[in-house]
Amino acid sequence: MVYSFWTVIQAGGHGWEHGPYLSPFYSPLLKFGWWPFSSAFLVAWIPLAFRGTCYYYRKAYFRAFFWDPPACAVSEPQLRKNYNGERAFPWILNNLHRFFLYLAVIILAILWIDAVNAFHYTNGLYIGVGSVLMLANVILLTSYTFSCHALRHLIGGSVDCFSCARAGRPRHGLWRLATLINPYHGAFAWASLVSVAVVDIYIRFVSSGALGSCFGAHAGC
Ligand code: FES
Repeated sequence: MVYSFWTVIQAGGHGWEHGPYLSPFYSPLLKFGWWPFSSAFLVAWIPLAFRGTCYYYRKAYFRAFFWDPPACAVSEPQLRKNYNGERAFPWILNNLHRFFLYLAVIILAILWIDAVNAFHYTNGLYIGVGSVLMLANVILLTSYTFSCHALRHLIGGSVDCFSCARAGRPRHGLWRLATLINPYHGAFAWASLVSVAVVDIYIRFVSSGALGSCFGAHAGC
């Protein structure tokens, strides 16, 4: 979260983009005259809220940062006497996870368009390090999103009998697929977290000229 905040401030209103590449923090690149801050602020809160309310990350940050609990069979610190679970502000906001999921799926579709566009430059096929990184990143993000516990529940969690439910057969197929990748959700969470940062750093270096890559449309080429 700290890195995200820092990078969206760094690029200002234009975003990290270079040739066919666009940093995932800035996608979709929204440019409004009335918005004085970084355009990423209009978008980046969605994946941040999605990750911040993720069941896996909740387990990780509650244990690591809030010591809730610090370890198995270790009692919680005394200052947590008034803890109300996720029934009071701010933790009640974690119940919005499924809604952040819907928004995150829209952002994911846009990132797929960006990844495909990264293989297309000046009316021809283009393959660069950035294209491959963007593709790998969106595959990891898709794995993270589609292994989500809330999505698995949405597909089949409320169904007692697939053969009796509407569209039961395709739902059962999707539910089995989600069940297959769901145990790896934590691994996808970390891998996609790293890949987003790696893509952003790479495009930042390329757009600043530090890596020597030069596209025709870029000033100075
Ligand atoms: S549970 Fe982790 S993204 Fe939904």
